[in-house]
Amino acid sequence: MSEMYTKHAVKYAEVVKDNIYNALLERPSTLALLDNVKGKDVIDMGCGSGIYADWFIKHSVNSLKCMDISEDMVSLVKDTFGEQVHAYTQDISQGLPLEPDNSADVIICPLVLHYVADLAPVFKDVQRVLKEDGYMVFSTHHPFADFECSKSGNYFEREWVEEEWDTIGTPVKVSFYRRSLTEICRAITSAGLYISQISEGSVDEQAREISESTYNHLKNNPNFIFIRCEKVRT
Ligand SMILES: C[S@@+](CC[C@H](N)C(=O)[O-])C[C@H]1O[C@@H](n2cnc3c(N)ncnc32)[C@H](O)[C@@H]1O
Repeated sequence: MSEMYTKHAVKYAEVVKDNIYNALLERPSTLALLDNVKGKDVIDMGCGSGIYADWFIKHSVNSLKCMDISEDMVSLVKDTFGEQVHAYTQDISQGLPLEPDNSADVIICPLVLHYVADLAPVFKDVQRVLKEDGYMVFSTHHPFADFECSKSGNYFEREWVEEEWDTIGTPVKVSFYRRSLTEICRAITSAGLYISQISEGSVDEQAREISESTYNHLKNNPNFIFIRCEKVRT
């Protein structure tokens, strides 16, 4: 796991509040795929510092469970939200073993799935845990954007990519899986879910005030992909 989400968890929590990639591109684009969440039972897979938890609490959900592989992140969420959230450590590559069948109206998983090699157990458990009319919204790296860092040159082959990101102001090593759109879609549909919406996101105009060049880049290039999927009704 990258030190970004362990050693630097506190700094990461601070930065994502108002940076371009998270606050002005990823979050508004993910939230645009959600319906009204008031009174809903919600799960946040790979919750990080709890920036979505804050939004869900403010939007009056009925219950909120947050999980992350990083104990540092889970501690941050517990310290910030106390009993308003049930937060616990979980490697979501194992699915959601502690969650009962048919128990969640909404599952979100923003910017986490590129850290998971095999998506099959994730979507299998999402399908099991969602209520009949429940849905999942997730974001991940856009497959076309990530193909730019491919060493294999084979778009269709899953590939472990190592980079340094300046997210927190100093370079930190981050590794993730680059995969094709086909692989993502197959993992969803093989689990008995269907895709009801796909978006490539849209950067907020405010980003221009922070960095004209980043704003222009994101206005012209895909960076993340946003998918909403639901249970196939039988
Ligand atoms: C880019 S951050 C996103 C955090 C949060 N979803 C957000 O949007 O602010 C990625 C998070 O995924 C977590 N993560 C990575 N691999 C994971 C895994 N296998 N299971 C659970 N969480 C994981 C990291 O610890 C980190 O908190």
